[in-house]
Amino acid sequence: MIFTSRRSFLQMAAAMGAAAAWGEPFATRSKVSWHERRDLYSEGVASGDPESDSVLLWTRRAPKPDSIVDRLHVEVAEDESFNRVVATTEAQISEAADWTCRVLAGGLKPARVYWYRFTDVKGNGSRVGRTITAPAGDDARPVRFAFVSCQNANQGAQNAYRRMIFEDERAAEENRLGFVLHLGDFIYEIVWYPEDRPQGMYDRRLRDIVRYEHGEKIRDFHIPTDVGDYRAVYRSYLHDPDLQDARARWPFVCMWDNHEFSWIGWQSLQQFGGVNHPAQTRKVAANQAFFEYQPARLYKPSGPTLSQFDPPKVVDAPISHFDENGLGQEPNNLTAIRSLRGYRALRWGHNMELIITDQRSYRSEEPTYRPEAHAFMSSNFPGFIPEEVLDVLDAGRSHNGGHPPATIEYGGTEIANFRKDQPPTTLLGAEQKAWFLDRLQKSKATWKIWGNTVATLDMRADPQNLPRGLTSAWPGAGYAGFDASSGAGDHSTAYVERGEIYDFVRDHGITGFATVAGDRHSFWAGVAAKSLPPKEFEPVGVAFVTGSISAPGVVEAFEHALSREHPLRSLFVGQGPQDAQPQPTINLLLKRGVQSCLEYVRSGDILKARALSNPDLSPHVSFVDMGGHGYAVVHVTSDSLETEFVCIPRPLERSERADGGPLRYRTRHRANLWRKGERPKLELKIVEGDPRFSV
Ligand SMILES: [Fe+2]
Repeated sequence: MIFTSRRSFLQMAAAMGAAAAWGEPFATRSKVSWHERRDLYSEGVASGDPESDSVLLWTRRAPKPDSIVDRLHVEVAEDESFNRVVATTEAQISEAADWTCRVLAGGLKPARVYWYRFTDVKGNGSRVGRTITAPAGDDARPVRFAFVSCQNANQGAQNAYRRMIFEDERAAEENRLGFVLHLGDFIYEIVWYPEDRPQGMYDRRLRDIVRYEHGEKIRDFHIPTDVGDYRAVYRSYLHDPDLQDARARWPFVCMWDNHEFSWIGWQSLQQFGGVNHPAQTRKVAANQAFFEYQPARLYKPSGPTLSQFDPPKVVDAPISHFDENGLGQEPNNLTAIRSLRGYRALRWGHNMELIITDQRSYRSEEPTYRPEAHAFMSSNFPGFIPEEVLDVLDAGRSHNGGHPPATIEYGGTEIANFRKDQPPTTLLGAEQKAWFLDRLQKSKATWKIWGNTVATLDMRADPQNLPRGLTSAWPGAGYAGFDASSGAGDHSTAYVERGEIYDFVRDHGITGFATVAGDRHSFWAGVAAKSLPPKEFEPVGVAFVTGSISAPGVVEAFEHALSREHPLRSLFVGQGPQDAQPQPTINLLLKRGVQSCLEYVRSGDILKARALSNPDLSPHVSFVDMGGHGYAVVHVTSDSLETEFVCIPRPLERSERADGGPLRYRTRHRANLWRKGERPKLELKIVEGDPRFSV
């Protein structure tokens, strides 16, 4: 929102019960005797959701046994020394919000760097934070931002942020990041206590970062059960020095994915061992902790106050009735998922609108997580499900024009179609989808960036081309997709919904449509198409996925979990004759096909391997790395979009180097703005390193 006057801003702020600071036209020197006491603000400072004239500021000041602080002085300045303070206010903090503090700073100038800090009555101050407002609506300057996802402080180090800070500090001013888009898994609610898993996780040692006071132990891990537990895990993550420095350097725009609530969470259900458990109280608790720890412009029905969440009362009641969009009608479910609305749109000048959606709170159940789906999987083909099976399961009762088959063939056997009476899979839900399509259509920005927490690019293999005798016969008719636990179960297998969105983009002549996503723990660059050969291939946009900041990916998992004797090991973590270590041949599998993998393992010759590409397998993919970690940077101008992947080695331990450690590679993926009716295209440039299995 744009505030045209101090009065309208303050009226709005009063209605929100928000501590609001209004930028004054004349800057003055700070009158506060601030001295830094970072130890009293252990979770650091943050800012979020910048607009062209305002931004949210955040800190937490926990009480000490001998003193409770319930009021903080907030200053916003044009300089780091606070000689030119432009806005001040007093903010209340209280136990009701776990001593966290959100302040809306308004009346700011567009596209400007500001500095902010919090100070108590005794002069004990937070560290100084830096934030940046968005360019104004008609400003055609380029926009640059990073997008990230999946940081796991229980299992790894956040070196990617150190690298991001190092590069940004040294960049020319026009090449600095305007903000960081965090696409979820900011926390992992699933925590392994070191003693429960002495062997660690894959290559990782487990860190003792949090103990849940009221946690529940499932198998060998622990999950939060109430708001105190969810708060505890946010606090433990914010004690990471690299994450804390990143939050102090840039405004963050955050959206939750699954792990902010629950691993296999959908709506307010949790799923463990294939069984759904109603968890309305936990969904509300997860939303409350998100509200408290992530400064963001979110809507909550309890009112617009920023000071506290006011959780609605819910009980964990069974959810048995779902409407025609798969939305559970149980009243506590509806109350819980509506207790915080995360989807929203933000604008950066003339060139960019960021439309962020929520893929977890309104989604229907993921078909491949159903126990019935196991009948379509085989340990001979780890993670593979025939595409024609995924297609039937996704479409449910809408398959074949409303005439779904009663059974589906798999390896010569007819298996019951357990989805035949259910609606097609949705990740957005009807209400959010309508909002999303409306925003897309109305956006006047050059680039419409869809901030989708989950990936949209098909993850595909061609086991039908395996030589006979290598393993059992492929039970599918043609290509294979993947199940949710192998990385799909996202918008890449929600064919009906994705098709609806892409058809809308095409039919409305929407150009500059680009998707940025996380969740898959891998880097992907490609074009957005609703179907692949032998069906029609008609790209309507470009799409990217960023590698995880630190959570393990499937290459690491396969290295540990796939037997050395598995007949298809070459397709996942194969080794050429000269290789001392397993290589990420799964990248070849997904981009080029099985023949390329087998050739690589035979000869170790990557050029020979590439020459055996199956051109129909993945014409939509220009780059894929299932083993990469790091972050991605998007740079948009009036006529182009460029995404850079910055890939670091597996972040097993914290790097003590100022640059966060070495790089594995840096690649750039550029699209020129296409006109209506033209096909979007991506050009790849390898800037440093050699991601030879990925290109
Ligand atoms: Fe993740």
